[in-house]
Amino acid sequence: MACSRKCLSLELLSFWCLISYVQARPNAEAMALLRWKDTLNQSSLQSWTLELSNGNLTSHGHSHCKWFGVSCNKDGSIESINLQGELFGGNLSNLDLSSFPSLVSLNLSDNNLRGDIPPQLGLLSKLAYLNLSMNYLSGFLPVSLANLTQISLLYMGNNLISGELDQRLFSNWTKLQYLELQNNNFTGMIPPEIGHLQNLKELALACNRFHGVIPHEIGNIKRLKALALHLNYLSGPVPPSFGNLSELTILFLQQNELSGPFPHSLLSCEKLNDLRLFENQLSSTVPKGLANLSLYEVHLSVNNFSGPLPEFCSSDHLTPLNEFFLFTTAWKMHTRIMQSRDYHNAEREA
Ligand SMILES: *[C@@H]1O[C@H](CO)[C@@H](O)[C@H](O)[C@H]1NC(C)=O
Ligand SMILES: *[C@@H]1O[C@H](CO)[C@@H](O)[C@H](O)[C@H]1NC(C)=O
Ligand SMILES: *[C@@H]1O[C@H](CO)[C@@H](O)[C@H](O)[C@H]1NC(C)=O
Ligand SMILES: *[C@@H]1O[C@H](CO)[C@@H](O)[C@H](O)[C@H]1NC(C)=O
Ligand SMILES: *[C@@H]1O[C@H](CO)[C@@H](O)[C@H](O)[C@H]1NC(C)=O
Ligand SMILES: *[C@@H]1O[C@H](CO)[C@@H](O)[C@H](O)[C@H]1NC(C)=O
Ligand SMILES: *[C@@H]1O[C@H](CO)[C@@H](O)[C@H](O)[C@H]1NC(C)=O
Ligand SMILES: *[C@@H]1O[C@H](CO)[C@@H](O)[C@H](O)[C@H]1NC(C)=O
Ligand SMILES: *[C@@H]1O[C@H](CO)[C@@H](O)[C@H](O)[C@H]1NC(C)=O
Ligand SMILES: *[C@@H]1O[C@H](CO)[C@@H](O)[C@H](O)[C@H]1NC(C)=O
Ligand SMILES: *[C@@H]1O[C@H](CO)[C@@H](O)[C@H](O)[C@H]1NC(C)=O
Repeated sequence: MACSRKCLSLELLSFWCLISYVQARPNAEAMALLRWKDTLNQSSLQSWTLELSNGNLTSHGHSHCKWFGVSCNKDGSIESINLQGELFGGNLSNLDLSSFPSLVSLNLSDNNLRGDIPPQLGLLSKLAYLNLSMNYLSGFLPVSLANLTQISLLYMGNNLISGELDQRLFSNWTKLQYLELQNNNFTGMIPPEIGHLQNLKELALACNRFHGVIPHEIGNIKRLKALALHLNYLSGPVPPSFGNLSELTILFLQQNELSGPFPHSLLSCEKLNDLRLFENQLSSTVPKGLANLSLYEVHLSVNNFSGPLPEFCSSDHLTPLNEFFLFTTAWKMHTRIMQSRDYHNAEREA
């Protein structure tokens, strides 16, 4: 009897603890956002205010859930913060990330955020979508991000992030589908462990300072549709394992230091439709079978290829317009990439 009473009161206690936790949480979340707002250089967050009640700030009826860019789950806990393109200045270290246990989506892309990527991001255990692209974030990619076990999309492109990619990052990202780190200042080799990302559909590491060989383990990422490694200092051969990428439609390897023969295994990538290999040191002949793929863009210029070109022009896949592209867009593509880079740099200098 005594025992069951004890159990009952313990249950009651934890019930009340749960209730007060649920009630306290939204205010803590709202307060964390307000404290961050105070450090930001912005004009778009006027809706971010709390009411004064008996001398205390409170979020009545979860009013913070209606704040600009904020949305909550049914318990009034913040699920998503979306402030894309508001062009506010500030940094992330002033945002107390430990206050958002329910956060699923954080989109602060296209702003003027500066400073380091806080290791506390790794505390957001439910986070599935993280878009911090197009800011001025610098420093390293913290290895604590390995704790984001639910992450499905991670965009950090167009920042000033440097350092090497830690292999430990790739051990827990089993749900990751989209990884974009292009246009940063990453160095070192691409870790072979990147091949653990078995659900990846899109991998963009272009426009960095990666060197060394392309890990053949990338060929294990069976679902990969788009791979962009261009504008780095990658050397060695195109891994034959790429022939196993049966979903691959886009392969950008241009403007590296790749050598060796044309990767014949690519003929197995039946869905490939945009292949860019220009400005490398690839040699030997280009296989005739390339003309049998449904390619609509091929850029092979400025390599050391020899022998006849495949008869693209007689293939059914290339319309006259694409035929034109075949011989001219290597240059166009090049200038487009340079322009986008210059554009970002120009913005930075402005
Ligand atoms: C804040 O924004 C204004 C206008 O966008 C800008 O002129 C100013 O330099 C910014 N200040 C800081 C500290 O970023
Ligand atoms: C206001 O805050 C104080 C201190 O945190 C607390 O003791 C008090 O109960 C609060 N009042 C109300 C009405 O919530
Ligand atoms: C970022 O914001 C845009 C525009 O509001 C939205 O379409 C997109 O889904 C958001 N992305 C993420 C990852 O939240
Ligand atoms: C991420 O942010 C960039 C820049 O604002 C935007 O172009 C892109 O669509 C966003 N992606 C997603 C998935 O939200
Ligand atoms: C973040 O901003 C605060 C001022 O708002 C500043 O004191 C701090 O140095 C900044 N931190 C970083 C890493 O830039
Ligand atoms: C991941 O989280 C655990 C526990 O929360 C922590 O001990 C560990 O250091 C974290 N991992 C990294 C790489 O930060
Ligand atoms: C992977 O996630 C688990 C569980 O969250 C954590 O304990 C572990 O530290 C993570 N691994 C790394 C390398 O951070
Ligand atoms: C990139 O890193 C190099 C050193 O690795 C440094 O000299 C350079 O200033 C960095 N560039 C930017 C834009 O951060
Ligand atoms: C392609 O995958 C198969 C089976 O997973 C494997 O046996 C083979 O070695 C791979 N081919 C290459 C070139 O890596
Ligand atoms: C290309 O396809 C045609 C018709 O399907 C076939 O006859 C030819 O052998 C193929 N060429 C190569 C090099 O695979
Ligand atoms: C280009 O290929 C020829 C043979 O076709 C070879 O003799 C030469 O060394 C190659 N040059 C480079 C830079 O690879």
